[in-house]
Amino acid sequence: MSRRVRTAVFPVGGLGTRFLPATKSMPKEMLPVVDKPLIQYAVEEAWEAGIEQLVFVTGRGKAAIEDHFDSSYELNVTLKERGKDELLDELNRGVPRPGQICYTRQQQPLGLGHAVWCARELVGDAPFAVLLADDLILAKKGCLAQMVDAHAKAGGNMVAVMEVPQAHTSRYGIVSPGADDGRLVAVRGLVEKPRPELSPSRLAVIGRYILEPEVFLHLGRMERGAGNEIQLTDAMAKMIGVLPFHGLRFDGRRFDCGDKVGFLEANIAFALERGDMADAVRAFLPQYR
Ligand code: UTP
Repeated sequence: MSRRVRTAVFPVGGLGTRFLPATKSMPKEMLPVVDKPLIQYAVEEAWEAGIEQLVFVTGRGKAAIEDHFDSSYELNVTLKERGKDELLDELNRGVPRPGQICYTRQQQPLGLGHAVWCARELVGDAPFAVLLADDLILAKKGCLAQMVDAHAKAGGNMVAVMEVPQAHTSRYGIVSPGADDGRLVAVRGLVEKPRPELSPSRLAVIGRYILEPEVFLHLGRMERGAGNEIQLTDAMAKMIGVLPFHGLRFDGRRFDCGDKVGFLEANIAFALERGDMADAVRAFLPQYR
């Protein structure tokens, strides 16, 4: 029986250069898909998976994220005065209880692996989840909840995986697959951003991870990988063969909201899921064919 996953780490220290100028003074993770910031989708996915403790690894200019997950006195008073109790309840439901959320800073954006390492003291000696808010997943049951269920049986390290076109392997960490039951696949190797002709498969790791705390030992060596960054993929690869390591083909659709076209597509897809918007969106879409 594996240990329960209670803590989730949200690395939000990236610069978000692909969304400049929008991200000059606003964190990428606060970009809204329809009317909710990317980071709130990720946090809601974590709650659904039974996570109890949130750790944000932030950087310069990320204060808006802290304000977002705090209660706003002025907004509370104004909405109450205007009788908008339902909206107020909804807003306050998203605010973590005192002590349930903590922040640490990644002083230099040295890569995703470095961001995760910055959370080591707050995570402690237990398995933990990592969620990248710019990978947004539309699913009946949240992707992390699916992973937590699978992890309860398989234990060890687990990543969310999906098939990508061969031409896109150089954008992802790619799995070298072992035993595969169609949903859970044993990870025999991991390569960060391989050229398509050198890629061991088309099975890409996307931004959901359940990791054993041993990963911090490997990250602590500060070895640089692809792009001269401290890569999470490289540290994870060191644990293959030492601990169980699986990829989960999750049920759901993933949108790369770190990319402008992916972000636009996510807005359309999420709007089409909304009873108050779907018809209006469907009505205007054909004009753009
Ligand atoms: P990206 O590769 O998308 O980088 O990071 P980025 O800086 O956010 O965006 P672009 O490419 O400049 O537009 C993937 C994830 O890793 C986090 C980011 O916040 C994002 O969730 N990250 C990346 C860090 O927290 N720290 C880093 O040093 C790098």
